[in-house]
Amino acid sequence: MPKPKYHILVCKNTRPPGHPKGSCGERGAMGILNQFNFGVMERSLMGKVIVTPTDCLGPCQMGPTVVVYPDGVWYKSVTEADVPVILDEHIGKGKPVDRLRMPDEVWG
Ligand code: FES
Repeated sequence: MPKPKYHILVCKNTRPPGHPKGSCGERGAMGILNQFNFGVMERSLMGKVIVTPTDCLGPCQMGPTVVVYPDGVWYKSVTEADVPVILDEHIGKGKPVDRLRMPDEVWG
């Protein structure tokens, strides 16, 4: 198996309704995860790109959270409609999607 070029982490953590932190799962993370898996297959990127569901990555209030390595680019408030844009622009062309980047203020 060749070493993948990109690793996409998708937070799918779900907290109970009404939890003060909210969660990516409550905001549609499973649909986003499915879209990434489908999009990787559709673009024949298997082997080049790995998609991994994760538990909480930290910035819950900005979720759904997606991280792309090795670039270390964190995306906020990702929707299913954003997934093909991330795959085509970031993964396909090497150009991270600036409008979806997690702001530095999140890290304190
Ligand atoms: S629940 Fe997704 S970042 Fe915390």
